[in-house]
Amino acid sequence: MPAADKVILITLPSSFFPLFILLSKFYTAMPSSLSSPSLLFILLFSACALHVHEAALDKNRTPEKGRMSPAEAEALFGIMESMSSDQNWRSSYPNPCGPSPSWTGIECKVGPDGLAHVSRLDFGCPPNPTCRPTATFPHRIFSLPFIQSAFFFECFTHTRTPLTVATNSSSLRQLSLRSNPALIGPIPPEISSFRSLEVLTLSQNSLSGVIPQQLFTLTSLVHLDLSYNKLSGSIPDQVGSLRSLVGLDLSYNSLSGIIPNTIGELGSLQKLDFSSNSLTGIIPGSVDRLGSLVFMALSNNHLTGELPPGIGELQSLQYFIMENNPMHTSLPSEIGLLTKLQELRLANCGFSGEIPASFSQLANLTTLSLQNNRLTGEIPTGFNQLSHIYHLNLSWNQLSGVVPLDASFLRRLGQNLDLSGNPGLCLSTGEAYGVVLCRTGKNGTLIAPLKSSGDSSAADEQLYLYSPLSLFSTPLTLPSILAFLNFSIISGIFS
Ligand SMILES: *[C@@H]1O[C@H](CO)[C@@H](O)[C@H](O)[C@H]1NC(C)=O
Ligand SMILES: *[C@@H]1O[C@H](CO)[C@@H](O)[C@H](O)[C@H]1NC(C)=O
Ligand SMILES: *[C@@H]1O[C@H](CO)[C@@H](O)[C@H](O)[C@H]1NC(C)=O
Ligand SMILES: *[C@@H]1O[C@H](CO)[C@@H](O)[C@H](O)[C@H]1NC(C)=O
Ligand SMILES: *[C@@H]1O[C@H](CO)[C@@H](O)[C@H](O)[C@H]1NC(C)=O
Repeated sequence: MPAADKVILITLPSSFFPLFILLSKFYTAMPSSLSSPSLLFILLFSACALHVHEAALDKNRTPEKGRMSPAEAEALFGIMESMSSDQNWRSSYPNPCGPSPSWTGIECKVGPDGLAHVSRLDFGCPPNPTCRPTATFPHRIFSLPFIQSAFFFECFTHTRTPLTVATNSSSLRQLSLRSNPALIGPIPPEISSFRSLEVLTLSQNSLSGVIPQQLFTLTSLVHLDLSYNKLSGSIPDQVGSLRSLVGLDLSYNSLSGIIPNTIGELGSLQKLDFSSNSLTGIIPGSVDRLGSLVFMALSNNHLTGELPPGIGELQSLQYFIMENNPMHTSLPSEIGLLTKLQELRLANCGFSGEIPASFSQLANLTTLSLQNNRLTGEIPTGFNQLSHIYHLNLSWNQLSGVVPLDASFLRRLGQNLDLSGNPGLCLSTGEAYGVVLCRTGKNGTLIAPLKSSGDSSAADEQLYLYSPLSLFSTPLTLPSILAFLNFSIISGIFS
Protein backbone atom coordinates (compact mmCIF):
# COMPACT_ATOMS: atom_id res chain seq x y z
CA MET A 1 0.00 0.00 0.00
CA PRO A 2 1.47 3.38 -0.97
CA ALA A 3 2.47 5.62 1.91
CA ALA A 4 -0.04 8.40 1.25
CA ASP A 5 -3.00 6.01 1.20
CA LYS A 6 -1.86 4.66 4.52
CA VAL A 7 -1.85 8.13 6.00
CA ILE A 8 -5.48 8.65 5.04
CA LEU A 9 -6.44 5.46 6.78
CA ILE A 10 -4.82 6.72 9.92
CA THR A 11 -6.38 10.11 9.96
CA LEU A 12 -9.88 9.54 8.64
CA PRO A 13 -11.21 7.92 11.82
CA SER A 14 -10.61 11.19 13.64
CA SER A 15 -12.64 12.83 10.84
CA PHE A 16 -10.34 15.81 10.66
CA PHE A 17 -9.87 16.58 7.03
CA PRO A 18 -7.43 19.37 7.79
CA LEU A 19 -4.94 16.82 9.08
CA PHE A 20 -5.15 14.88 5.90
CA ILE A 21 -4.52 18.04 3.95
CA LEU A 22 -1.42 18.68 6.00
CA LEU A 23 -0.12 15.22 5.36
CA SER A 24 -0.78 15.29 1.65
CA LYS A 25 0.87 18.68 1.47
CA PHE A 26 3.88 17.20 3.20
CA TYR A 27 4.09 14.52 0.59
CA THR A 28 3.78 16.85 -2.35
CA ALA A 29 6.63 18.84 -0.83
CA MET A 30 8.81 15.74 -0.55
CA PRO A 31 8.49 13.83 -3.77
CA SER A 32 11.82 11.98 -3.59
CA SER A 33 10.57 8.49 -2.87
CA LEU A 34 6.86 8.58 -3.60
CA SER A 35 5.58 5.69 -5.59
CA SER A 36 3.68 6.90 -8.59
CA PRO A 37 0.27 5.61 -7.35
CA SER A 38 0.48 7.73 -4.22
CA LEU A 39 1.58 10.79 -6.19
CA LEU A 40 -1.28 10.29 -8.58
CA PHE A 41 -3.64 10.04 -5.65
CA ILE A 42 -2.48 13.36 -4.28
CA LEU A 43 -2.72 15.08 -7.64
CA LEU A 44 -6.23 13.77 -8.26
CA PHE A 45 -7.37 15.11 -4.93
CA SER A 46 -6.24 18.64 -5.52
CA ALA A 47 -6.51 21.00 -2.60
CA CYS A 48 -9.69 22.53 -4.01
CA ALA A 49 -11.44 19.18 -4.37
CA LEU A 50 -10.65 18.37 -0.77
CA HIS A 51 -11.85 21.71 0.34
CA VAL A 52 -15.22 21.21 -1.33
CA HIS A 53 -15.40 17.81 0.31
CA GLU A 54 -14.96 19.50 3.68
CA ALA A 55 -17.83 21.82 2.87
CA ALA A 56 -20.07 18.92 1.95
CA LEU A 57 -20.02 17.62 5.52
CA ASP A 58 -22.98 18.40 7.76
CA LYS A 59 -25.24 19.51 4.93
CA ASN A 60 -28.23 17.89 6.58
CA ARG A 61 -28.18 20.36 9.43
CA THR A 62 -29.82 23.13 7.40
CA PRO A 63 -32.94 24.05 9.37
CA GLU A 64 -36.36 23.68 7.83
CA LYS A 65 -37.38 27.18 8.71
CA GLY A 66 -34.72 29.63 7.67
CA ARG A 67 -35.91 32.76 9.40
CA MET A 68 -32.98 34.87 10.52
CA SER A 69 -32.86 37.98 12.66
CA PRO A 70 -32.73 41.06 10.42
CA ALA A 71 -29.54 42.20 12.15
CA GLU A 72 -27.73 38.92 11.46
CA ALA A 73 -28.99 38.82 7.86
CA GLU A 74 -27.73 42.37 7.37
CA ALA A 75 -24.31 41.47 8.84
CA LEU A 76 -24.12 38.40 6.58
CA PHE A 77 -24.98 40.35 3.41
CA GLY A 78 -22.44 43.00 4.39
CA ILE A 79 -19.73 40.34 4.67
CA MET A 80 -20.72 38.64 1.42
CA GLU A 81 -20.77 41.90 -0.54
CA SER A 82 -17.37 42.95 0.73
CA MET A 83 -15.86 39.55 -0.04
CA SER A 84 -17.34 38.30 -3.29
CA SER A 85 -18.83 39.68 -6.47
CA ASP A 86 -20.05 36.28 -7.72
CA GLN A 87 -23.70 37.18 -7.06
CA ASN A 88 -25.95 39.95 -5.99
CA TRP A 89 -26.26 38.13 -2.70
CA ARG A 90 -29.30 40.04 -1.39
CA SER A 91 -31.46 39.52 -4.47
CA SER A 92 -30.24 36.01 -5.36
CA TYR A 93 -30.63 34.62 -1.83
CA PRO A 94 -33.09 36.71 0.16
CA ASN A 95 -33.29 33.84 2.70
CA PRO A 96 -29.69 32.62 2.94
CA CYS A 97 -30.61 30.03 5.58
CA GLY A 98 -33.37 28.51 3.48
CA PRO A 99 -35.81 26.88 3.19
CA SER A 100 -34.90 27.08 -0.51
CA PRO A 101 -31.36 25.98 -1.38
CA SER A 102 -28.73 28.53 -0.65
CA TRP A 103 -25.19 28.91 -1.98
CA THR A 104 -22.51 26.29 -1.42
CA GLY A 105 -20.33 27.29 1.46
CA ILE A 106 -22.98 28.56 3.86
CA GLU A 107 -24.51 26.50 6.62
CA CYS A 108 -27.05 27.49 9.20
CA LYS A 109 -28.29 26.07 12.46
CA VAL A 110 -31.36 26.77 14.55
CA GLY A 111 -30.46 28.45 17.80
CA PRO A 112 -32.22 28.21 21.18
CA ASP A 113 -34.19 31.29 20.10
CA GLY A 114 -35.82 29.29 17.26
CA LEU A 115 -34.13 31.46 14.66
CA ALA A 116 -31.71 30.30 11.99
CA HIS A 117 -28.12 31.39 12.44
CA VAL A 118 -25.10 31.19 10.16
CA SER A 119 -22.81 28.48 11.49
CA ARG A 120 -20.33 28.16 8.66
CA LEU A 121 -18.96 30.29 5.85
CA ASP A 122 -16.60 29.05 3.20
CA PHE A 123 -14.76 31.21 0.67
CA GLY A 124 -12.28 30.37 -2.04
CA CYS A 125 -12.72 27.86 -4.79
CA PRO A 126 -15.89 27.28 -6.78
CA PRO A 127 -18.57 26.21 -6.08
CA ASN A 128 -17.88 28.14 -2.86
CA PRO A 129 -18.03 31.93 -3.31
CA THR A 130 -14.77 33.22 -4.79
CA CYS A 131 -13.09 36.27 -3.34
CA ARG A 132 -12.81 39.56 -5.18
CA PRO A 133 -9.25 40.81 -5.71
CA THR A 134 -9.85 43.70 -3.31
CA ALA A 135 -11.21 41.49 -0.52
CA THR A 136 -9.65 42.15 2.87
CA PHE A 137 -9.95 39.98 5.94
CA PRO A 138 -13.61 40.28 7.12
CA HIS A 139 -13.19 40.34 10.89
CA ARG A 140 -16.93 41.08 11.12
CA ILE A 141 -17.42 37.36 10.51
CA PHE A 142 -16.54 36.78 14.18
CA SER A 143 -19.49 38.90 15.27
CA LEU A 144 -21.95 36.43 13.72
CA PRO A 145 -23.24 35.05 17.04
CA PHE A 146 -23.37 31.34 16.06
CA ILE A 147 -20.45 31.10 13.67
CA GLN A 148 -18.60 27.82 14.19
CA SER A 149 -16.46 27.44 11.07
CA ALA A 150 -14.86 29.94 8.74
CA PHE A 151 -12.76 28.85 5.77
CA PHE A 152 -10.76 31.08 3.43
CA PHE A 153 -8.83 29.20 0.77
CA GLU A 154 -6.88 31.06 -1.95
CA CYS A 155 -8.95 34.08 -1.05
CA PHE A 156 -6.56 36.92 -0.21
CA THR A 157 -4.22 36.81 -3.16
CA HIS A 158 -3.95 40.43 -4.32
CA THR A 159 -4.69 43.04 -1.67
CA ARG A 160 -2.39 42.77 1.31
CA THR A 161 -4.47 42.38 4.44
CA PRO A 162 -3.72 41.48 8.06
CA LEU A 163 -5.55 38.89 10.12
CA THR A 164 -7.55 40.94 12.61
CA VAL A 165 -9.68 39.92 15.57
CA ALA A 166 -11.85 42.70 16.92
CA THR A 167 -14.67 40.70 18.49
CA ASN A 168 -14.72 37.85 20.97
CA SER A 169 -16.35 34.80 19.49
CA SER A 170 -16.97 31.93 21.86
CA SER A 171 -18.81 29.88 19.22
CA LEU A 172 -15.94 29.55 16.72
CA ARG A 173 -14.59 26.00 16.53
CA GLN A 174 -12.71 25.99 13.22
CA LEU A 175 -10.79 28.77 11.56
CA SER A 176 -8.95 27.87 8.39
CA LEU A 177 -6.99 30.38 6.34
CA ARG A 178 -4.97 28.49 3.77
CA SER A 179 -3.03 29.54 0.66
CA ASN A 180 -3.61 33.27 1.02
CA PRO A 181 -0.35 34.88 -0.10
CA ALA A 182 -1.61 38.41 0.62
CA LEU A 183 -2.47 37.61 4.24
CA ILE A 184 0.34 39.40 6.06
CA GLY A 185 1.37 40.61 9.50
CA PRO A 186 1.49 38.81 12.82
CA ILE A 187 -0.89 36.28 14.33
CA PRO A 188 -2.90 38.58 16.62
CA PRO A 189 -2.72 37.66 20.33
CA GLU A 190 -6.47 38.37 20.46
CA ILE A 191 -6.98 35.07 18.66
CA SER A 192 -6.93 33.63 22.18
CA SER A 193 -10.45 35.02 22.65
CA PHE A 194 -11.81 32.16 20.52
CA ARG A 195 -12.21 29.99 23.59
CA SER A 196 -13.85 27.04 21.79
CA LEU A 197 -11.39 26.84 18.90
CA GLU A 198 -10.55 23.24 18.03
CA VAL A 199 -8.97 23.62 14.59
CA LEU A 200 -6.72 26.53 13.67
CA THR A 201 -5.16 26.31 10.22
CA LEU A 202 -3.11 29.28 9.11
CA SER A 203 -1.00 27.44 6.55
CA GLN A 204 0.58 28.82 3.35
CA ASN A 205 0.04 32.50 4.05
CA SER A 206 2.57 35.31 4.57
CA LEU A 207 2.20 35.66 8.32
CA SER A 208 5.28 36.92 10.15
CA GLY A 209 6.45 37.77 13.67
CA VAL A 210 6.54 35.46 16.65
CA ILE A 211 3.93 32.90 17.67
CA PRO A 212 2.00 34.74 20.41
CA GLN A 213 2.09 32.97 23.77
CA GLN A 214 -1.62 33.70 24.18
CA LEU A 215 -2.32 31.19 21.42
CA PHE A 216 -1.38 28.44 23.85
CA THR A 217 -4.24 29.29 26.19
CA LEU A 218 -6.62 27.78 23.62
CA THR A 219 -6.74 24.45 25.40
CA SER A 220 -9.52 23.05 23.22
CA LEU A 221 -7.23 23.03 20.18
CA VAL A 222 -7.02 19.65 18.50
CA HIS A 223 -5.21 20.74 15.34
CA LEU A 224 -2.81 23.64 15.05
CA ASP A 225 -1.21 24.27 11.67
CA LEU A 226 0.95 27.35 11.17
CA SER A 227 3.09 25.82 8.42
CA TYR A 228 4.48 27.63 5.37
CA ASN A 229 4.57 31.16 6.75
CA LYS A 230 7.39 33.48 7.80
CA LEU A 231 7.06 33.05 11.54
CA SER A 232 10.20 33.63 13.59
CA GLY A 233 11.29 33.48 17.23
CA SER A 234 11.19 30.35 19.31
CA ILE A 235 8.49 27.78 20.07
CA PRO A 236 7.04 28.96 23.41
CA ASP A 237 7.26 26.60 26.40
CA GLN A 238 3.52 27.07 26.75
CA VAL A 239 3.02 24.72 23.79
CA GLY A 240 2.80 21.97 26.44
CA SER A 241 -0.53 23.41 27.64
CA LEU A 242 -2.39 22.23 24.56
CA ARG A 243 -3.13 18.81 26.01
CA SER A 244 -5.83 17.98 23.45
CA LEU A 245 -3.59 18.48 20.43
CA VAL A 246 -3.61 15.67 17.89
CA GLY A 247 -1.82 17.55 15.10
CA LEU A 248 0.88 20.20 15.47
CA ASP A 249 2.49 21.56 12.31
CA LEU A 250 4.94 24.46 12.49
CA SER A 251 6.94 23.38 9.44
CA TYR A 252 8.43 25.70 6.81
CA ASN A 253 8.85 28.81 8.95
CA SER A 254 11.94 30.51 10.37
CA LEU A 255 11.58 29.31 13.95
CA SER A 256 14.78 29.14 15.97
CA GLY A 257 15.81 28.09 19.49
CA ILE A 258 15.29 24.69 21.03
CA ILE A 259 12.36 22.28 20.97
CA PRO A 260 10.77 22.87 24.40
CA ASN A 261 10.87 19.93 26.77
CA THR A 262 7.17 20.62 27.50
CA ILE A 263 6.41 18.97 24.15
CA GLY A 264 6.24 15.71 26.12
CA GLU A 265 2.99 16.92 27.73
CA LEU A 266 1.13 16.50 24.44
CA GLY A 267 0.11 12.92 25.11
CA SER A 268 -2.56 12.81 22.38
CA LEU A 269 -0.29 14.04 19.61
CA GLN A 270 -0.35 11.94 16.45
CA LYS A 271 1.41 14.31 14.08
CA LEU A 272 4.37 16.52 14.95
CA ASP A 273 5.96 18.48 12.12
CA PHE A 274 8.71 21.01 12.89
CA SER A 275 10.60 20.42 9.64
CA SER A 276 12.35 23.19 7.68
CA ASN A 277 12.99 25.70 10.42
CA SER A 278 16.23 26.68 12.18
CA LEU A 279 15.73 24.77 15.41
CA THR A 280 18.85 23.96 17.45
CA GLY A 281 19.80 21.75 20.39
CA ILE A 282 18.86 18.16 21.01
CA ILE A 283 15.56 16.36 20.55
CA PRO A 284 14.22 16.61 24.12
CA GLY A 285 14.08 13.36 26.08
CA SER A 286 10.42 14.02 26.93
CA VAL A 287 9.34 12.98 23.42
CA ASP A 288 9.41 9.41 24.72
CA ARG A 289 6.03 10.20 26.31
CA LEU A 290 4.38 10.80 22.94
CA GLY A 291 3.06 7.27 22.72
CA SER A 292 0.33 8.17 20.20
CA LEU A 293 2.70 9.79 17.73
CA VAL A 294 2.33 8.38 14.22
CA PHE A 295 4.24 11.00 12.25
CA MET A 296 7.29 12.95 13.39
CA ALA A 297 9.19 15.24 11.03
CA LEU A 298 12.16 17.27 12.24
CA SER A 299 14.09 17.41 8.96
CA ASN A 300 15.99 20.46 7.73
CA ASN A 301 16.87 22.01 11.07
CA HIS A 302 20.10 22.41 13.05
CA LEU A 303 19.34 19.71 15.61
CA THR A 304 22.32 17.90 17.04
CA GLY A 305 23.44 15.21 19.47
CA GLU A 306 22.05 11.90 20.58
CA LEU A 307 18.54 10.74 19.86
CA PRO A 308 16.55 10.42 23.11
CA PRO A 309 17.31 7.14 24.91
CA GLY A 310 13.56 6.47 25.19
CA ILE A 311 12.93 6.78 21.45
CA GLY A 312 11.87 3.12 21.43
CA GLU A 313 8.80 4.09 23.48
CA LEU A 314 7.20 5.73 20.44
CA GLN A 315 5.33 2.56 19.69
CA SER A 316 2.82 4.16 17.30
CA LEU A 317 5.42 5.84 15.12
CA GLN A 318 5.10 5.06 11.41
CA TYR A 319 6.98 8.01 9.89
CA PHE A 320 10.23 9.31 11.33
CA ILE A 321 11.70 11.99 9.12
CA MET A 322 14.76 13.86 10.27
CA GLU A 323 17.19 14.19 7.38
CA ASN A 324 19.51 17.20 7.13
CA ASN A 325 20.40 17.83 10.76
CA PRO A 326 23.98 17.90 12.08
CA MET A 327 23.36 15.10 14.60
CA HIS A 328 26.96 13.77 14.49
CA THR A 329 26.28 10.79 16.70
CA SER A 330 25.64 7.08 16.23
CA LEU A 331 22.36 5.40 15.39
CA PRO A 332 20.74 3.96 18.54
CA SER A 333 19.66 0.35 18.27
CA GLU A 334 16.38 1.35 20.04
CA ILE A 335 15.08 2.56 16.67
CA GLY A 336 14.70 -1.13 15.90
CA LEU A 337 11.94 -1.26 18.54
CA LEU A 338 9.72 1.01 16.43
CA THR A 339 8.16 -1.92 14.62
CA LYS A 340 5.33 0.09 13.05
CA LEU A 341 7.80 2.30 11.17
CA GLN A 342 7.10 2.62 7.47
CA GLU A 343 9.43 5.46 6.60
CA LEU A 344 12.72 6.15 8.31
CA ARG A 345 14.63 9.05 6.80
CA LEU A 346 17.92 9.85 8.48
CA ALA A 347 19.99 11.04 5.53
CA ASN A 348 22.66 13.70 5.76
CA CYS A 349 22.88 13.81 9.56
CA GLY A 350 26.54 12.94 10.13
CA PHE A 351 25.57 9.61 11.69
CA SER A 352 28.60 7.39 12.27
CA GLY A 353 29.23 3.86 13.49
CA GLU A 354 27.41 0.79 12.23
CA ILE A 355 23.82 0.39 11.09
CA PRO A 356 22.29 -1.39 14.12
CA ALA A 357 21.30 -4.98 13.33
CA SER A 358 18.00 -4.19 15.08
CA PHE A 359 16.92 -2.19 12.00
CA SER A 360 16.21 -5.59 10.42
CA GLN A 361 13.24 -5.92 12.81
CA LEU A 362 11.43 -3.02 11.12
CA ALA A 363 9.25 -5.43 9.20
CA ASN A 364 6.86 -2.81 7.82
CA LEU A 365 9.53 -0.46 6.56
CA THR A 366 8.90 0.77 3.02
CA THR A 367 11.52 3.52 2.87
CA LEU A 368 14.91 3.68 4.55
CA SER A 369 17.15 6.64 3.73
CA LEU A 370 20.56 6.66 5.35
CA GLN A 371 22.54 8.27 2.55
CA ASN A 372 25.23 10.90 3.10
CA ASN A 373 26.26 9.82 6.57
CA ARG A 374 29.49 8.28 7.83
CA LEU A 375 28.20 4.80 8.51
CA THR A 376 30.77 2.04 8.59
CA GLY A 377 30.75 -1.73 8.83
CA GLU A 378 28.56 -4.14 6.93
CA ILE A 379 24.92 -3.92 5.87
CA PRO A 380 22.96 -6.01 8.42
CA THR A 381 22.18 -9.42 6.94
CA GLY A 382 18.57 -9.15 8.14
CA PHE A 383 17.87 -6.42 5.56
CA ASN A 384 17.22 -9.15 3.05
CA GLN A 385 14.02 -10.00 5.02
CA LEU A 386 12.58 -6.46 4.83
CA SER A 387 9.76 -7.61 2.62
CA HIS A 388 7.84 -4.32 2.37
CA ILE A 389 10.79 -2.14 1.46
CA TYR A 390 10.70 -0.46 -1.91
CA HIS A 391 13.18 2.34 -1.41
CA LEU A 392 16.58 1.80 0.20
CA ASN A 393 19.25 4.45 -0.07
CA LEU A 394 22.53 3.75 1.71
CA SER A 395 24.67 5.73 -0.71
CA TRP A 396 27.68 7.87 0.28
CA ASN A 397 28.66 6.17 3.47
CA GLN A 398 31.71 4.05 4.28
CA LEU A 399 29.96 0.70 4.31
CA SER A 400 31.97 -2.33 3.38
CA GLY A 401 31.79 -6.05 2.81
CA VAL A 402 29.55 -8.27 0.74
CA VAL A 403 26.05 -6.85 0.21
CA PRO A 404 23.75 -9.35 1.97
CA LEU A 405 20.83 -8.84 -0.43
CA ASP A 406 19.78 -11.66 -2.69
CA ALA A 407 18.95 -11.47 -6.37
CA SER A 408 15.18 -11.26 -5.86
CA PHE A 409 15.60 -8.37 -3.40
CA LEU A 410 17.81 -6.55 -5.91
CA ARG A 411 15.30 -7.13 -8.71
CA ARG A 412 12.38 -5.98 -6.57
CA LEU A 413 13.97 -2.66 -5.67
CA GLY A 414 15.72 -2.05 -9.00
CA GLN A 415 16.41 1.67 -9.37
CA ASN A 416 15.10 2.33 -5.87
CA LEU A 417 18.14 0.67 -4.33
CA ASP A 418 21.16 2.99 -4.12
CA LEU A 419 24.40 1.67 -2.64
CA SER A 420 26.73 3.95 -4.56
CA GLY A 421 29.56 5.87 -2.93
CA ASN A 422 30.53 2.98 -0.64
CA PRO A 423 33.77 1.82 -2.24
CA GLY A 424 34.16 -1.05 0.21
CA LEU A 425 30.90 -2.76 -0.83
CA CYS A 426 30.59 -5.52 -3.38
CA LEU A 427 27.88 -7.85 -4.62
CA SER A 428 28.04 -11.62 -4.66
CA THR A 429 25.29 -11.84 -7.26
CA GLY A 430 22.99 -9.79 -9.44
CA GLU A 431 23.45 -6.10 -10.05
CA ALA A 432 22.69 -2.91 -8.19
CA TYR A 433 23.39 0.71 -8.96
CA GLY A 434 26.88 1.80 -7.96
CA VAL A 435 28.21 -1.53 -6.65
CA VAL A 436 30.69 -3.87 -8.25
CA LEU A 437 30.71 -7.65 -8.15
CA CYS A 438 32.97 -9.18 -5.51
CA ARG A 439 36.07 -10.96 -6.68
CA THR A 440 36.65 -14.56 -5.78
CA GLY A 441 39.83 -15.03 -3.79
CA LYS A 442 42.33 -17.82 -4.35
CA ASN A 443 40.75 -20.02 -1.69
CA GLY A 444 37.21 -19.55 -3.13
CA THR A 445 35.85 -16.93 -0.70
CA LEU A 446 34.30 -13.64 -1.85
CA ILE A 447 36.51 -10.63 -1.43
CA ALA A 448 35.29 -7.06 -1.30
CA PRO A 449 37.45 -4.75 -3.42
CA LEU A 450 38.88 -2.83 -0.47
CA LYS A 451 39.58 -5.90 1.64
CA SER A 452 42.27 -7.27 -0.62
CA SER A 453 45.21 -6.79 1.71
CA GLY A 454 46.75 -10.13 0.83
CA ASP A 455 46.46 -9.59 -2.90
CA SER A 456 49.42 -8.71 -5.06
CA SER A 457 47.62 -6.68 -7.74
CA ALA A 458 46.91 -3.66 -5.56
CA ALA A 459 47.38 -1.26 -8.47
CA ASP A 460 44.64 -2.96 -10.52
CA GLU A 461 42.42 -2.90 -7.47
CA GLN A 462 42.68 0.87 -7.23
CA LEU A 463 41.57 1.35 -10.82
CA TYR A 464 38.79 -1.11 -10.24
CA LEU A 465 37.68 1.01 -7.29
CA TYR A 466 37.67 4.26 -9.13
CA SER A 467 35.77 3.07 -12.19
CA PRO A 468 32.36 2.74 -10.50
CA LEU A 469 32.88 6.13 -8.88
CA SER A 470 33.31 7.77 -12.24
CA LEU A 471 29.83 6.62 -13.22
CA PHE A 472 28.15 8.90 -10.72
CA SER A 473 26.59 12.11 -11.80
CA THR A 474 27.26 13.61 -8.36
CA PRO A 475 30.59 15.43 -8.60
CA LEU A 476 33.22 14.29 -6.14
CA THR A 477 33.86 17.08 -3.65
CA LEU A 478 37.24 17.57 -2.04
CA PRO A 479 36.03 16.46 1.42
CA SER A 480 34.52 13.28 0.02
CA ILE A 481 37.76 12.49 -1.83
CA LEU A 482 39.75 13.13 1.36
CA ALA A 483 37.39 10.97 3.38
CA PHE A 484 37.70 8.25 0.76
CA LEU A 485 41.49 8.38 0.84
CA ASN A 486 41.46 8.34 4.63
CA PHE A 487 39.18 5.30 4.56
CA SER A 488 41.48 3.57 2.10
CA ILE A 489 44.45 4.26 4.35
CA ILE A 490 42.65 2.87 7.37
CA SER A 491 41.71 -0.26 5.50
CA GLY A 492 45.30 -0.73 4.52
CA ILE A 493 45.21 -0.72 0.76
CA PHE A 494 47.90 1.90 0.30
CA SER A 495 50.04 0.79 3.18
C1 LIG B 1 -12.82 39.77 24.92
O1 LIG B 1 -12.89 39.15 26.20
C2 LIG B 1 -11.84 39.52 27.08
C3 LIG B 1 -12.01 38.77 28.38
O2 LIG B 1 -12.84 37.69 28.25
C4 LIG B 1 -11.88 41.03 27.32
O3 LIG B 1 -10.81 41.42 28.14
C5 LIG B 1 -11.79 41.76 25.98
O4 LIG B 1 -11.93 43.14 26.18
C6 LIG B 1 -12.84 41.28 25.03
N1 LIG B 1 -12.61 41.87 23.73
C7 LIG B 1 -13.58 42.34 22.94
C8 LIG B 1 -13.15 42.96 21.67
O5 LIG B 1 -14.76 42.26 23.25
C1 LIG C 1 2.52 -4.01 9.47
O1 LIG C 1 1.40 -3.48 8.81
C2 LIG C 1 0.27 -4.33 8.81
C3 LIG C 1 -0.82 -3.65 8.02
O2 LIG C 1 -0.30 -2.75 7.12
C4 LIG C 1 -0.17 -4.61 10.22
O3 LIG C 1 -1.24 -5.52 10.21
C5 LIG C 1 0.97 -5.18 11.00
O4 LIG C 1 0.60 -5.34 12.35
C6 LIG C 1 2.18 -4.30 10.92
N1 LIG C 1 3.30 -4.89 11.57
C7 LIG C 1 3.89 -4.36 12.60
C8 LIG C 1 5.06 -5.09 13.14
O5 LIG C 1 3.51 -3.30 13.07
C1 LIG D 1 20.13 8.38 -2.86
O1 LIG D 1 20.66 9.54 -2.27
C2 LIG D 1 21.52 10.27 -3.12
C3 LIG D 1 22.16 11.37 -2.30
O2 LIG D 1 21.21 12.17 -1.68
C4 LIG D 1 20.70 10.78 -4.28
O3 LIG D 1 21.51 11.54 -5.15
C5 LIG D 1 20.12 9.59 -5.03
O4 LIG D 1 19.29 10.04 -6.07
C6 LIG D 1 19.32 8.72 -4.08
N1 LIG D 1 18.98 7.49 -4.79
C7 LIG D 1 17.72 7.08 -4.94
C8 LIG D 1 17.52 5.80 -5.66
O5 LIG D 1 16.77 7.69 -4.50
C1 LIG E 1 40.43 -17.14 2.42
O1 LIG E 1 41.35 -16.11 2.37
C2 LIG E 1 41.02 -14.90 3.08
C3 LIG E 1 42.09 -13.87 2.83
O2 LIG E 1 42.31 -13.73 1.48
C4 LIG E 1 40.81 -15.20 4.56
O3 LIG E 1 40.42 -14.04 5.26
C5 LIG E 1 39.79 -16.29 4.72
O4 LIG E 1 39.67 -16.64 6.07
C6 LIG E 1 40.13 -17.51 3.87
N1 LIG E 1 39.06 -18.47 3.94
C7 LIG E 1 39.21 -19.75 4.09
C8 LIG E 1 37.99 -20.59 4.09
O5 LIG E 1 40.32 -20.24 4.21
C1 LIG F 1 41.10 10.65 8.90
O1 LIG F 1 40.80 9.77 9.98
C2 LIG F 1 41.14 10.27 11.26
C3 LIG F 1 40.81 9.21 12.30
O2 LIG F 1 40.84 7.95 11.77
C4 LIG F 1 40.38 11.56 11.53
O3 LIG F 1 40.75 12.12 12.78
C5 LIG F 1 40.63 12.56 10.41
O4 LIG F 1 39.80 13.70 10.63
C6 LIG F 1 40.32 11.94 9.07
N1 LIG F 1 40.65 12.87 8.00
C7 LIG F 1 39.82 13.15 7.01
C8 LIG F 1 40.33 14.07 5.99
O5 LIG F 1 38.70 12.63 6.91
